[in-house]
Amino acid sequence: MLTQRSQEKELLDLGPDFYTPQEFADCHIKLFRVNKLFGFFSDTKQLLKKFSSNITVLDVGCGAGLFLLHLSKHFPKMTLTGTDICLSSITLAQQELQQWQNKHFSKNVLFKLQAFPQTRFSPSSVDVIITTMVCHHLDDEALIKFMQQLVVGAKNAVIINDLHRHRIAEFFYSMLSPLLFNNRLITHDGLISIRRGFTRSEWHVLLKKANIQNYTLKWRFPFRWSLVLWK
Ligand SMILES: C[S@@+](CC[C@H](N)C(=O)[O-])C[C@H]1O[C@@H](n2cnc3c(N)ncnc32)[C@H](O)[C@@H]1O
Repeated sequence: MLTQRSQEKELLDLGPDFYTPQEFADCHIKLFRVNKLFGFFSDTKQLLKKFSSNITVLDVGCGAGLFLLHLSKHFPKMTLTGTDICLSSITLAQQELQQWQNKHFSKNVLFKLQAFPQTRFSPSSVDVIITTMVCHHLDDEALIKFMQQLVVGAKNAVIINDLHRHRIAEFFYSMLSPLLFNNRLITHDGLISIRRGFTRSEWHVLLKKANIQNYTLKWRFPFRWSLVLWK
């Protein structure tokens, strides 16, 4: 069990017949809580402090955009763009941005629909690319191409946040998620996300196949990976 990455699709990837608009919006908003609780947000914040204060940052697969909006509070001089292949996510992110701008003065954030799953970036067109909880949505072949394209697009680094596939993570998540998040998609898809996650040796194999040598891969509690591809 859990010896290989699961091929099961998440409800979010199956489309709107599999969830209500309320469940979808609630799930995407609560994903920021997941990101904070798992430490993805604070890790990314620490990593971004290594770069100059006025860089350009692209969040690929930004969902409802809260990750980027909260980063904008800490990095007001950075130019932050979020993209996603899902129109409903981008619509949600644009609504969040409007509400955010009523409360905070931030003119440095923008959300855009990404036309194709396999985006082609102009070389070094953005300083840093972030992608959080996106890689596990892709099968190995698509992920190798995805990482190669991110490396082309980034001038300095690509920050990848994703999950460690592990039975302990699966067990505790199945117990705690209904209590913590109270959203069917977060619990159901979260468990599939863990099963679609990665072991350390799988990352090394995928990165080798992508011909990416300059990277740091760190395991972080609770059962997640912080992977940085350096240029
Ligand atoms: C689990 S959500 C994570 C959203 C956000 N990054 C967060 O952590 O809250 C995964 C997102 O990745 C998007 N996605 C999946 N494949 C993608 C791809 N190839 N390019 C861009 N976005 C993608 C989905 O539409 C979805 O919004």
